[in-house]
Amino acid sequence: MSIKRMFAAAAAIGLVTLGAAWAQGDPAQVIRERREGLRAVGQHFEALGAIAQSRGDTRAAVPRIEAVQAFFVNFPARFPANTQTGETRALPTIWTDNAGFVAAYNGLGPALANLRTVAAGGDATAFGEALRAAGATCGNCHRPYRAR
Ligand code: HEC
Repeated sequence: MSIKRMFAAAAAIGLVTLGAAWAQGDPAQVIRERREGLRAVGQHFEALGAIAQSRGDTRAAVPRIEAVQAFFVNFPARFPANTQTGETRALPTIWTDNAGFVAAYNGLGPALANLRTVAAGGDATAFGEALRAAGATCGNCHRPYRAR
């Protein structure tokens, strides 16, 4: 097996283990952790919006974008079936239309990757556009899958 394939296999096992840990955890704790993570994502996006608005140094945005990317790895596994109720705004559609939820999730990754590339490039106008496009993918999931 090549080093690259071994790494991919190890990463896949890691993700499965992580998903299993979430599925087995105390539901209230799983909800708390996903909401804390999402709150941090929201704060990163507010900071990114401020950089876009002030036409500041977009390279300074890169670590925030990377933090958001890291949080969203395996995101759907943060929604095991036993976390539908409680202190959560997750809508039942996440579980009744899980394919749609995963499709909305899959829209986010490329938008974040593009945002990171554009931020590293330093073009403030392009950054504003890429940020809007990434923000739209957040809304594409929130509208059908998150309560107001
Ligand atoms: C695939 C679906 C999905 C995507 C994509 C998504 N979110 Fe969410 N988001 C949710 C769900 C579901 C909740 C409600 C979670 C809960 O209450 O348990 C949520 C909640 C939140 C919250 C509220 C956290 C709190 O205080 O409880 C913020 C802020 C947030 N999302 C920001 C974002 C941003 C910014 C993006 C884009 C970068 C994004 N989300 C992308 C599904 C998504």
